[in-house]
Amino acid sequence: MKLLNELFENNRRWAADTAATDPEFFSRLEQLQSPRYFWIGCSDSRVPANQITGLAPGEVFVHRNVANVVVHTDLNCLSVLQYAIDVLGVSHVMVVGHYGCGGVKAAMAGQSLGLIDNWLRHIQDVADRHAAILGTLPDEDDRWRCLCELNVIEQVRNVARTTLACDAWRRGQQVAIHGWIYDLADGGLRDLDVTMTGEVPPDIVVAGALEQIRSRYRLA
Ligand code: CO
Repeated sequence: MKLLNELFENNRRWAADTAATDPEFFSRLEQLQSPRYFWIGCSDSRVPANQITGLAPGEVFVHRNVANVVVHTDLNCLSVLQYAIDVLGVSHVMVVGHYGCGGVKAAMAGQSLGLIDNWLRHIQDVADRHAAILGTLPDEDDRWRCLCELNVIEQVRNVARTTLACDAWRRGQQVAIHGWIYDLADGGLRDLDVTMTGEVPPDIVVAGALEQIRSRYRLA
């Protein structure tokens, strides 16, 4: 049986190189983690939070699932969010989608893949909610890209409506929730301008972001 020796070899090299460059690195991180950022992204292997943002271990707290969905009954995601906000005290939560997302594509196609269909149902809800925008895009790739963006926008709204975010804002904790999209084609990250800080109602922020989508896709 092959025991993935190359991965252990990579690890030994990485640990040695890291310690050589910064001898205090591991002892410092062993004491505590104090990340300022919490990343909610897609499980896609091509979208690793740290590498894309140039952040070192200890700098970003991460939750990933298929198609970066935030569901109000998902105790896993909510627990990570609670820990990030209440215990770690992160200042920024970013929901990061990506173009070319297979989960979004499968939801769009109504393709049956098994258990995951139930999860992707949440993205179909996003598509239904924004049928007026998606229905006017003749090109399938444009619809796919647009739904990737709309999904991020709606998940930012979902984070903002959790009791966790609302309670944090009520007690005066500064937490900004951002919506970003990553482009597999060139490695670029873009802000979808849907940042919520608790000052403006989520629906108003979403309306502004949707306006930008309409102009980006040249919709009336
Ligand atoms: Co994806």
